[in-house]
Amino acid sequence: MRFAGKTVVITGGSSGIGRGSVELFLREGATVVMGDIDEAQGTAMMSSLGDSFLFKKCDVTQESEVKALMDFAAEQTGGIDVVFNNAGAGGPRDAIDEISGDDWDFAMALLLKSVAMGIRHAAPHLKKRGGGAIVNTASVCAFQAGYGPIAYSTAKAGVLHLTKIAAAELAQYKIRVNAICPGFIQTNIFAATVGANEDEAREINAFLGQAAAGVQPVARPGVPGDIAEAAAYLASDAAGFVTGTHLLVDGGLLVGTQASWNPEIPGMLDAILPEHLR
Ligand SMILES: NC(=O)c1ccc[n+]([C@@H]2O[C@H](COP(=O)([O-])OP(=O)(O)OC[C@H]3O[C@@H](n4cnc5c(N)ncnc54)[C@H](O)[C@@H]3O)[C@@H](O)[C@H]2O)c1
Repeated sequence: MRFAGKTVVITGGSSGIGRGSVELFLREGATVVMGDIDEAQGTAMMSSLGDSFLFKKCDVTQESEVKALMDFAAEQTGGIDVVFNNAGAGGPRDAIDEISGDDWDFAMALLLKSVAMGIRHAAPHLKKRGGGAIVNTASVCAFQAGYGPIAYSTAKAGVLHLTKIAAAELAQYKIRVNAICPGFIQTNIFAATVGANEDEAREINAFLGQAAAGVQPVARPGVPGDIAEAAAYLASDAAGFVTGTHLLVDGGLLVGTQASWNPEIPGMLDAILPEHLR
């Protein structure tokens, strides 16, 4: 019960990582206020998750709705202790020489400005509480090409820098700010990005499960609970000396090439040395 008596605001909690986090923080004793654009799912969660769960429809691309979510959470529960800026989607997939300015603006509004506004409008409430913790969802896409669309990846890299600067500015108020960089996690995000239907979405996640052993050293798919556990750690008192940084939760996806962890794949020395000198 690490969060007994605490109010935790989570965006994008109708599905995937956010949903897993809603459930974990509730199990840990928090009152959870969840904001999401998916009103039907949020309302359904209100009837299934009990009195410690509140939902408010929130489109995180709209500053006024982000502010309204934070104000609602504080009014309904007496204050805010933790904010998990997590909502997101894959966004436009066009190449750099084809993407439109409007699509670029949308990706930045959804994936970067939304986090900035989440921090902006949570901070006054966290200050009133005498401190708190903010966790932002970034991605492995922030580090390397090839894991996601260009605007998505650029925005996620921005989330890491925003996390650092915000942590520096807010430390004086005892507010910590950190980010999580998930690897491939079995959620709806891939299906939504390619416009798949429900059956195709199941197929995508089953495929991700089977492919896991060839994708990263930890030979199982990442699940929302893996990221929820990281969010709970960063939000908890156990991380009291941790701020302005990120936690990679990727099953080792970024440790190196497949040759570095799979003995069946020829290593770099095998690739660059003549056979008789390996
Ligand atoms: N699944 C992965 O492999 C992965 C990897 C790295 C980062 N992420 C990040 O994790 C976060 C959660 O994604 P997920 O994988 O759980 O996907 P998901 O599609 O399962 O959940 C995303 C949630 O965000 C909500 N959302 C989308 N647009 C919104 C908006 N404008 N306003 C409010 N809510 C909105 C959706 O309704 C949904 O509930 C995202 O920021 C995503 O970029 C996911």
